[in-house]
Amino acid sequence: MTIGIDQLGLYTPPFFIDLRELATARGVEPDKYTIGIGQDQQAVAPSSQDVVTMGAAAAKEALAGQDLSKLGLLILATESGVDASKAGALYIHRLLGLPASMRVFELKEACYGGTAGLMMARDYVAAHPGKTALVIASDIARYGLATGGEVTQGAGAVAMVVAEAPRILAVNDDSALHADDIQDFWRPMYTDQALARGKYSTEQYIAFFDEVWATYREKTGRTLADHAAMLFHLPYTKMGLKALKTVLAEATPAAQERLLAQYQASIQYSRRIGNIYTGSLYLGLVSLLENSETLAAGDRLGLFSYGSGAVGEFFSATLQPQFRQAVPLHGHAPLLAQRKQLAIATYEQLFADSWPNDPSDYQSEPAWFAGPFVMSGVTGQERQYRAND
Ligand code: CAA
Repeated sequence: MTIGIDQLGLYTPPFFIDLRELATARGVEPDKYTIGIGQDQQAVAPSSQDVVTMGAAAAKEALAGQDLSKLGLLILATESGVDASKAGALYIHRLLGLPASMRVFELKEACYGGTAGLMMARDYVAAHPGKTALVIASDIARYGLATGGEVTQGAGAVAMVVAEAPRILAVNDDSALHADDIQDFWRPMYTDQALARGKYSTEQYIAFFDEVWATYREKTGRTLADHAAMLFHLPYTKMGLKALKTVLAEATPAAQERLLAQYQASIQYSRRIGNIYTGSLYLGLVSLLENSETLAAGDRLGLFSYGSGAVGEFFSATLQPQFRQAVPLHGHAPLLAQRKQLAIATYEQLFADSWPNDPSDYQSEPAWFAGPFVMSGVTGQERQYRAND
């Protein structure tokens, strides 16, 4: 049975900053951000946008035209969740009016969560013929103003409908895995800003990639040449390139050129949105499918997922005959083009205006309401979600 991604949705808030402006404000040479890190712009989420509202927006797009009566599983993968107990997936379930008879929960392992959810969904569909699953990877990456990680922030969500006979991508059962308890990046419960051992995290990312790539190559007998494109978790776009370059010499010059060109197609959206943690690998997938004109049905893609802490997984996926109808070229270009650029001072004000970490009530600023759903405020320690009408 072929199982994989039948439909995709992508959402990012309609506000961004220009990273050359951020560099100037921070006294940094702008080329460091745009060339050294590989980021041009960064999505900014006002406090009325969180993993629930962004996830619901992406899922609304992914579910358009789907038979909801077949949906048996909803997974929200996130590492910037809004409650330590209740699954954010339940708010999304209500906002989208999904059937009551289904499994609904939240899942966490840093940026690996989206892949964990995808694999769980594939196994669910295999065990329940005729059923479908919805996987949402939604996050706001926050490191803090004027921190080393600030340039790698971002916000957005990717949603995937997983089904039998998928129109876009078959997810193959060929994973190579590596897990180890390391302390490269984490977020203590008291704060919404992540802590990272920056250099160590990049070294570990590469070490995990090299490990799972070697295992995958040995297990499947495949080489780089068997892959039309290699996709990476993208905390910033230079990161995936650093990993790819550790193995690129294994390929012929022609294959190297092809893989580097496809890599460029895969990072177009991340360069303008930033890190969306659980969704970053799949943002790269959407970007590749919408910005590469040389892909064909039957092409095999290699995907590297990395979640700090840490878990690495490499697997392949095969493009299906209807992929181009399901993912039109440049389909999400308007979502990015229609965003509003913010001055750095405005971004700093929005960054400081977050919901309280104490029992007081809070009202999100209506002037910043955007997208199909909003978190209008917190009343009696309960978050208030509604359609943005
Ligand atoms: N022109 C061009 N390039 C320049 C430059 C200039 N004027 N100035 C500097 N550069 C280059 C540097 O040479 C360097 O290039 P290489 O990496 O190729 O050597 C690059 O810009 C970055 O410079 P630094 O190493 O000095 O950058 P930094 O010390 O400010 O830290 C960072 C960068 C570690 C990524 C930091 O932003 C950070 O901590 N980010 C958060 C953690 C992170 O994203 N880790 C990634 C792996 S963990 C993961 O994947 C999970 C996750 O999602 C977080």
